[in-house]
Amino acid sequence: MANKILILLLFSTLSAAQSFPGENFKGNEDNLARQMENTIKQVVRQRYSAGAMKRFNQAKSLGCFDATFTVKKDINPSLQHGIFAQPGSHRALVRFANASTTDDAKSDLRGLSIRVSGVKGKPVWGKAGYQDFVLNSHPVLFAANPEEFLAFIEAQRNDSVIWHLLTPTNWDTLYILLSARSNPASPFDIRYWSTTPYQLGEEQAVKYSLQSCSSYQSEMPAELTNNYLRAAMQQHLNNAEVCFDFMVQRQTNNEDMPIEDASAKWNEDDSPFIPVARLIIQPQSFISAADIAQCEKTAFNPWQSLAAHKPLGRMNYVRKHVYYALSRFRNNRN
Ligand code: HEM
Repeated sequence: MANKILILLLFSTLSAAQSFPGENFKGNEDNLARQMENTIKQVVRQRYSAGAMKRFNQAKSLGCFDATFTVKKDINPSLQHGIFAQPGSHRALVRFANASTTDDAKSDLRGLSIRVSGVKGKPVWGKAGYQDFVLNSHPVLFAANPEEFLAFIEAQRNDSVIWHLLTPTNWDTLYILLSARSNPASPFDIRYWSTTPYQLGEEQAVKYSLQSCSSYQSEMPAELTNNYLRAAMQQHLNNAEVCFDFMVQRQTNNEDMPIEDASAKWNEDDSPFIPVARLIIQPQSFISAADIAQCEKTAFNPWQSLAAHKPLGRMNYVRKHVYYALSRFRNNRN
């Protein structure tokens, strides 16, 4: 009996030591990830019963670009961790996408995925040499936790999204989904947020955001067409390079800035975003069929990451398995 208690104590100390302050794992996360995998597979099988299978989320690639990710020289020493420890430039691959529509003219959320290469150090998952960042064009996610996310995917599978959102307990989700959708003049001009938190070094938690620093800004066209966003990106690159500031926002306390609620905005007055790097996209061609096909094959994963930028919280935890399983499923099918 005494031995059993000792072993139990050892396990609880080990898992406590592994979790970051503010994380609150419940032990059902692996099960949730498997349920998400199965449900999403059912949804994409139905959605793409013929032809190429696209991503479940962020399915329309607006474009993939070669870019340069330059870590700034004058970063506050307390933020100099992982890839931000050394100033200098890295090559990067960047993908912009529509979250749920193939028609750019429809109001939607937009996604931004970044893969920085030439990264020194062992990743927590994936291939050495890379660091991924995966962001959305809204500061908060429509679901607070993986249970809410799973319930939404199940509603999609059951064709009951409207009923799901009209249920009073889901009105917060409905409100966020409605306010997150927009028609920007260009994906190059808008802001992106990680919504979920990440480690910065061993002791800090941060969220990420990118904000335009381009000299050129697109104008809203008189008429919104199916591919107006791609056209705006091409027009931008014909005129000037694209510039984004990559910024981090520190968590100052877990009550107002929780790790475990992806639907909670961390107030920028309490903790402003601080630029730590710059992303530059030089003029280049990106809309040939070959460019788009290559873009479709690429898969990003927030866990393709150095330990210094480890994804935090339950929502990020389940993403590791779901993104990996779904990208394999998609690429095997195609
Ligand atoms: C539990 C929460 C989430 C689940 C289950 C989920 C699920 C997925 C899935 C299945 C894909 C497609 C993967 C593939 O086929 O390669 C995807 C892609 C994506 N998701 Fe999520 N997602 C979650 C949270 C988030 C969050 C918090 C963000 C950002 C704020 C985000 C942004 C994106 C983006 C930008 C992509 C496109 C990635 C790419 O370019 O390959 N997702 N998501």
